[in-house]
Amino acid sequence: MKRTILPLLCLLAIFFIPSNAAAQTDYTYKNKSLPIETRVQDLLGRMTLEEKAGQLNQLSGGVLTGPQAANDPGQKDKLVQLRAGKVGSLLNVLGAQQTCAVQKIAVEESRLGIPLLFAYDVIHGYKTIFPIPLAEACTWEPAMAEKAASIAAKEASSAGLHWTFAPMMDLTRDPRWGRVMEGSGEDPLINSVFAAARVRGFQGNFDNQHLLACVKHFGGAYGASEAGKEYNTVDVSRYAFWNTYAPPYKAAVDAGAATLMNGFNIFDGIPSSSNKFLVTDVLKNRWGFKGFLVSDWASFREIITHGQAEDRAEAAMKAILAGSEMDMESRVIIENLPQLVKDGKVPLSMVDAAVSKILYWKFKLGLFDDPYSYCDEKKEAATLMAPAHLDAARDAARKSMVLLKNDNKTLPFSKSAKNVLVAGLFADSQDDALDFWCAQGQAKDVVTYRKGIANLLPKASISYAQGYEANGKTTAKLLADVNKKAGSADVIVAVIGITGKLAGEARSLADLSPAPGQMEMLRTLKATGKPFVVVVHASRPMVLTEVEKLAPAILNAWIGGTRMGDGAADILFGDYNPSAKTVISFPVAVGQIPVYYNAYNTGRPHRDGDEGPDDFWVSRYRDIPGSPLYPFGFGLSYTSFEYGEIAVKSIGTQTEPKYEASISVKNTGNREGEEIVQFYLRDPVASYVRPVKELKAFDKVSLKSGESKTVKFTVDKDMLSYFDENGNKVLEPGKFEFFVGGNSRDVKKAEVRW
Ligand code: BGC
Repeated sequence: MKRTILPLLCLLAIFFIPSNAAAQTDYTYKNKSLPIETRVQDLLGRMTLEEKAGQLNQLSGGVLTGPQAANDPGQKDKLVQLRAGKVGSLLNVLGAQQTCAVQKIAVEESRLGIPLLFAYDVIHGYKTIFPIPLAEACTWEPAMAEKAASIAAKEASSAGLHWTFAPMMDLTRDPRWGRVMEGSGEDPLINSVFAAARVRGFQGNFDNQHLLACVKHFGGAYGASEAGKEYNTVDVSRYAFWNTYAPPYKAAVDAGAATLMNGFNIFDGIPSSSNKFLVTDVLKNRWGFKGFLVSDWASFREIITHGQAEDRAEAAMKAILAGSEMDMESRVIIENLPQLVKDGKVPLSMVDAAVSKILYWKFKLGLFDDPYSYCDEKKEAATLMAPAHLDAARDAARKSMVLLKNDNKTLPFSKSAKNVLVAGLFADSQDDALDFWCAQGQAKDVVTYRKGIANLLPKASISYAQGYEANGKTTAKLLADVNKKAGSADVIVAVIGITGKLAGEARSLADLSPAPGQMEMLRTLKATGKPFVVVVHASRPMVLTEVEKLAPAILNAWIGGTRMGDGAADILFGDYNPSAKTVISFPVAVGQIPVYYNAYNTGRPHRDGDEGPDDFWVSRYRDIPGSPLYPFGFGLSYTSFEYGEIAVKSIGTQTEPKYEASISVKNTGNREGEEIVQFYLRDPVASYVRPVKELKAFDKVSLKSGESKTVKFTVDKDMLSYFDENGNKVLEPGKFEFFVGGNSRDVKKAEVRW
């Protein structure tokens, strides 16, 4: 009955609706007062298959207007596609002026006027550059990373951007991998808390001061690229996936990340972009991810190169059927999707679901109501490099630099030093300061180490000696200059490391030792007998074994961003008491990699610190020590801390374990300082072998000289359990070991039995 009456009623309605009301229904999706879902469905109903495929197509834009673009066939073609509604998003279109101009074309010259999403890699700042993400994580202060991300978002959104491809949550244990700088080190908990903090910082409340975040790269375990070689094979167990690599992604999804990116790598033999297990089973079904996915650059097309699809149509089909969505720069979707749907190879429902989600975010950001609300040139000029942003960058820089060695209290140097020698090319090279992922940060804006020291000590005479060449070699002349200037210096700051140009994607390195010329410079300085500190400027833990032997003090400055020199100067001359602790182990030699604290015991474990002849039939190399040079969680302060014993109280029940572990921490030095108190756990006997230690909680406490505080950790059943290879949580009764300390090696221990 209903079936016959309904069409009739509709027909009658059409006749009786006045013509202006008909026009209104035409534009339902433009009606602000309707719920987003209604607007999305209305718009979807008006779109052709080609336009739907267009929403799934993301191109790298560059400059699309102006005389140069007008003469570039590639750029002209992009505009043709834009006008035809065949582009849903552009990356690498920058600046308020340019994004406004291009948005105008999409909105005014395409049939449905669907606005574009502008995306960019805003990784650790847009114009004001913060320390690399790895360094920020060494603060163990997620709130700081959240603030840095919100400042980055404020700057980038003022320049017309809506969406950043960050944060990267690829846990890695391999500093050879160039992208180690983009993540938060070797620990699942640290990666997770920083993932969530950055998502919150970037996204805020989805207004025009923020950006959509994109958690990347969901390749299951992109950070486990074999041998740290970029774009290499990943082959990890499901057990490792669930326990080690997946938690940071899950944390970011739980924090409400709007988008997520596929990885380049294979997982379980299947490219991430066409991997149904990752994309649909885990991400969408299990974790309930409601945002949309974007491929990595051309990763849909690379399904062919991996050897899982014969041609572009098959690659597109496999990506979409797996549940992947937007295609970054492969163009296989725009070329093939309509036909695949017509041929019945891809269900229209999957396309509609993907397109609806992308449209949802465009509505949510208000782009249909005001497509130009992000691109305001005045706002952009007032926002980029605002003084408050630069101050925050300086604070982040000093909070993230790790003091690795400080024999005989070499540091801090006195601020009344009259003659300071700053040695080493990287001490004053803006060109080597920033990394590949520095967005719109400019070398000319970087405060170098030399400049930072000069700023802090306006009355001192600061001399500079280059020490080594850009190629890592030195010359007799450069060394003689170092020697001469060292002679008249009260204190010396020697900067070594790896140029920022070798930090980031496609920048894997096989050798992590300081260059020979850098070592010669250090030996020359050592021979003068003058007090000196080595500042390490590098985006990854280097092999500092030789440096450690000859330097009295080492400050690992990472790549500290726009205000790196000010941040380092604050530490070197005592204005700031260092508090950072490394979130990745420093290897003794490259051959020791991967070396990480949360390893399994093996059947023949090497014991930390035991390097003697009896340590033979154990899992280690014979020619180097078994332990890392500096363990996970390590970092010194200008004061010292003493830990009491762990007191454990059961606050749970027989069916549900819960404990409170407390410990007193005392500042035994003579200045105020911050200590990062770390809580580790071990489940020594379980159905699946568990790591020798796992970080489960931490607290950063500030203590005045002589002050003590009791730090408490609540250990719940979630912390005591782990995942099996199917991703199910396992909680088993028995013994658990708790450890608390200022790093993963030097800890106090307690045991409980549940
Ligand atoms: C990288 C991504 C990045 C994308 C866009 C790719 O090569 O792997 O991390 O977001 O390019 O620039």
